[in-house]
Amino acid sequence: MRAYDLIKKKREGQALSDEECAFLIAGYTSGEVTDYQMSAFAMAVFFRGMQGDELSSFTKAMLHSGEIVDLSALKMPKIDKHSTGGVGDKISLPLAPAVAALGVPVPMVSGRGLGHTGGTLDKLESIPGFLVDLTTEDYKRLVKEVGCCLIGQTGEVAPADKKLYALRDVTATVDCIPLIASSIMSKKLAEGIDGLVLDVKFGSGAFMKKHEDAEILAKTMVDIGSRMGKRMVARLTNMEQPLGVMVGNALEVKESLDALEGKGPKDVVDLTVELGAEMVVLGGVAKDLDEGRTKMREVLGNGKAFEKFAEIVEAQKGDVKSLSDRTRLPQAKGRVEIKAKRAGYIHSIDTESVGIASMLLGGGRQRSADPIDPRVGIEIHARIGDQVKEGQTLFLMHSEDSGVDNAKARLENSIQFSDEKVAAPKLFSSRHSQEATS
Ligand code: URA
Repeated sequence: MRAYDLIKKKREGQALSDEECAFLIAGYTSGEVTDYQMSAFAMAVFFRGMQGDELSSFTKAMLHSGEIVDLSALKMPKIDKHSTGGVGDKISLPLAPAVAALGVPVPMVSGRGLGHTGGTLDKLESIPGFLVDLTTEDYKRLVKEVGCCLIGQTGEVAPADKKLYALRDVTATVDCIPLIASSIMSKKLAEGIDGLVLDVKFGSGAFMKKHEDAEILAKTMVDIGSRMGKRMVARLTNMEQPLGVMVGNALEVKESLDALEGKGPKDVVDLTVELGAEMVVLGGVAKDLDEGRTKMREVLGNGKAFEKFAEIVEAQKGDVKSLSDRTRLPQAKGRVEIKAKRAGYIHSIDTESVGIASMLLGGGRQRSADPIDPRVGIEIHARIGDQVKEGQTLFLMHSEDSGVDNAKARLENSIQFSDEKVAAPKLFSSRHSQEATS
């Protein structure tokens, strides 16, 4: 077999076989297939697409390029959630402990923030002492003993994806749905899960701006997962405005703690309940979504989800006292208000700009090696559809010394007003599910 022939085959729109995908990806991981050959292949996929058996073979080859955690000793179904990321998306923090409190093991491997979206690991690390870099053995032990683990990648997960993603980044092949879907799924499938709930976001604060692209991505990932023997659900959710009222690492931890006490903002609680209901149905502890929702509201209301989070924080060496005494969490010194320049209804929010403003304050990264400041961020005081008076506070920045002027300018320009009433966007859009087919 030769890489040249496989590139030509894809260029001509034909599907690669299982063996051909395995050959290409193993060769790329070892260096026998060169970067220039792989970039030609990625461009051929960009124009010709990839689906069905071919895409699941390609994903499987990427998955097998690295370590795959074996959690099969734990007999119950292990279920995770993955979000494609959005501004203010802190849902993993209340969701994972709530689902674990209902008896479904949640092995959750998360990432760090980049650009306008935050990352679960950065948020968790704003709890003093919290460790996200655990060994595979600790990961397995915590999933078994605590029922949940909130960590970063252990070992070398999907090294082929790491190489290919860097290559796509410089060859204009990032925005290609089969390559995105196989990249995400190869990493999630390495966690040792039996089922996965995807929260695929669309809108100005999301990676996929258009609903139709998000829908294709959701269906593609559901198809890959079910062909690889996993129970899959995808929910499409709206990111036209930030999720919740806090953006920034320690601020989002505080908002998550509120949700864990049943008190968080409605959209945060509703999304936690809905995704959790999907997870507990996949995990077999609720017969349908209605029962799942009821159970989720119960554990968020009766302290069980909060207790489970405290157990996780303790197991991962975080400061448990900071969960009840929130003055122990990092706090910024400065406060800067952004006020409405006119009266009217909030017509739209450039949510990506809100994420960028938080990054400019130091709460996010422009490059993956940049440090972040857990203290800073933005409180959102206006939502789409709200009627505001001139001079009313729209945002409150929690700032330190850097980035204040640039962040302020971003926020001032992020809101469009209307004289007419505006309907608030619906949080939930379509749902896609598939049973395991292998
Ligand atoms: N996230 C990933 O992990 N991979 C992509 O290709 C895009 C987003």
